[in-house]
Amino acid sequence: MRLRHHKILRAVLLFAFALTCVVCAGHVEPVLGNTDGVTSIFRPLSQPAQQIKDLSVLVLAICGSIFAVVAGLLVYAIVRFRHRAGDELSEPPQVYGSNQIELAWTILPLLIVFVLILVTSRTIADIQNRKPPPTAVQATVIGHQWWWEIRYPELGIVTANELHVPASDGRGPRPTFLKLQSADVAHSFWVPELSGKTDLIPNRENLMWIEPTKPGTYPGNCAEYCGTQHARMLIRVVVHPPDEFARWVNEQQQSAATETSAPEGRKVFFANSCVNCHTIRGTSAQGKFGPDLTHLMSRETLASGAALNSADGLRLWVHDPQKIKVGCLMPNMQLTDNEVDQVVAYLQTLK
Ligand code: CUA
Repeated sequence: MRLRHHKILRAVLLFAFALTCVVCAGHVEPVLGNTDGVTSIFRPLSQPAQQIKDLSVLVLAICGSIFAVVAGLLVYAIVRFRHRAGDELSEPPQVYGSNQIELAWTILPLLIVFVLILVTSRTIADIQNRKPPPTAVQATVIGHQWWWEIRYPELGIVTANELHVPASDGRGPRPTFLKLQSADVAHSFWVPELSGKTDLIPNRENLMWIEPTKPGTYPGNCAEYCGTQHARMLIRVVVHPPDEFARWVNEQQQSAATETSAPEGRKVFFANSCVNCHTIRGTSAQGKFGPDLTHLMSRETLASGAALNSADGLRLWVHDPQKIKVGCLMPNMQLTDNEVDQVVAYLQTLK
């Protein structure tokens, strides 16, 4: 009796674990400042995420029905033919070589697998063969340890960690086509509500596209383990109505103002090796290793979503980046508290 209880308990636990796995599939941690909370693949707001969800619901339904039939028959057999007091202990009659049954359990699974292959390959082909319309936005996303470089070659814009795209509304399709590259190790670009995952692989270019229809901010995450700060390699996709997107493009295309209200901070910045890693367009800072800072203050977060882009966040980051993101490539510049305040004041002029 004890043994049977254990077995039942184990089965229940196993089932609960499997259910948790299914429910958790596609969730990423809430991103700083994202009031929407957790995001899920079962709540798509863009092509191709919608198509992928439709397919997975069909596959889940087919697999769920198979599970229900098999588990139902199993439970029926266990209950109906259980050992009863007074039963003889001899073996029941054994059935061998039933052609009908064997044909049925060979052909039926074959048909099911065939249907699954057909619908899956049609969805894959639909997504991969999409050609960019002339209105499409082209962007290049480059994975770094541990941040995202985002370039719009046709628009002359370079930014980081926050991908801005137009929404496809009634005025015609405005998909965004992404070229995915890596500067170091393999990463994976994943914004669950917009699309499936696609890897960023060194010395290779992968392609993907998104076509969100609803303006908003969509959080995502690097989905390929890429080192200690993999979990803090967050991404945000900001979807704008088309006219607002045009305004954003216009703002980003401007060079940074060279006359600033924080001349001391500017001096500290340009006297240190900050300029070897960061670009500020319109100045002598032309470094390429770190994020482009030309319009730093247009971003909501710092360090790929690890901190809010506020005066406090900036102060903490400039003072010692390792306190926020251990192992990141930006060193502690050993600035005095006064210098940190001055640099932060200068950075805040980069609107
Ligand atoms: Cu980049 Cu994980």
